[in-house]
Amino acid sequence: MKTLAVHACVLSMGVLFAGVAGAQQRVDFGKMEFERSCASCHGVDGKGNGPMGNFLKVSPPDLTRLAKANQGVFPMNRLYEVVEGAGVPAHGSRDMPVWGREYSMQDAQSGAYDSPAVVRARILTLLEYLSRIQAK
Ligand code: HEC
Repeated sequence: MKTLAVHACVLSMGVLFAGVAGAQQRVDFGKMEFERSCASCHGVDGKGNGPMGNFLKVSPPDLTRLAKANQGVFPMNRLYEVVEGAGVPAHGSRDMPVWGREYSMQDAQSGAYDSPAVVRARILTLLEYLSRIQAK
C-alpha cells in the first residue's frame, strides 16, 4: 500500500514536471537564483539598488558593469572566488555574504549526494546569468 502511494506520488511529480517544462520551455535557474539570493542587495536588475543596500556599510556594486570594468571581458575566475568566498574568515568583516558556505549548509540539509559539486554548479549557474546581463 505504502509502495503504491510512493509510486503514485512519483508518477504525479513526473506529470507535473513534464507539464511545467511543456508550458514554459525556458526555466532560467540563474535568474531565479539571482532574484532569490542577490536582488535584495544588488537590485532585481543587478544595478546595485536593492532595498537592503541602505543598511550596509559598503554599497552593493552594479553587477551589470563587471565586464565593462575589465576591458570588456567578464572576469569569471575572480568573480567565482568573490561569490564562493573561500578564505574569508568565518567572522569576516565583509558585507557580502559568503555563498560557498551558505550553499554548502543548504545542501547538507537537503542531503544532496555530492555537495561540493552542487555548490559549484549553483555558483556557475549564477555567474552564467550575470554574464548575460552585462552592459554592452
Ligand atoms: C546582504 C547584501 C548582499 C547580498 C544578498 C549579495 N551581495 Fe554581492 N555584494 C554585496 C556588497 C556590499 C558587495 C561589495 C563588496 C563587499 O562588501 O564585499 C558585494 C559584491 C559582490 C560582487 C563583487 C563585484 C566585484 O566587482 O568585485 C559580486 C560578483 C557579487 N556581490 C555577487 C553577488 C551574488 C551573485 C549574490 C547572490 C548569490 C550576491 N552578491 C548577494 C552585498 C550583497
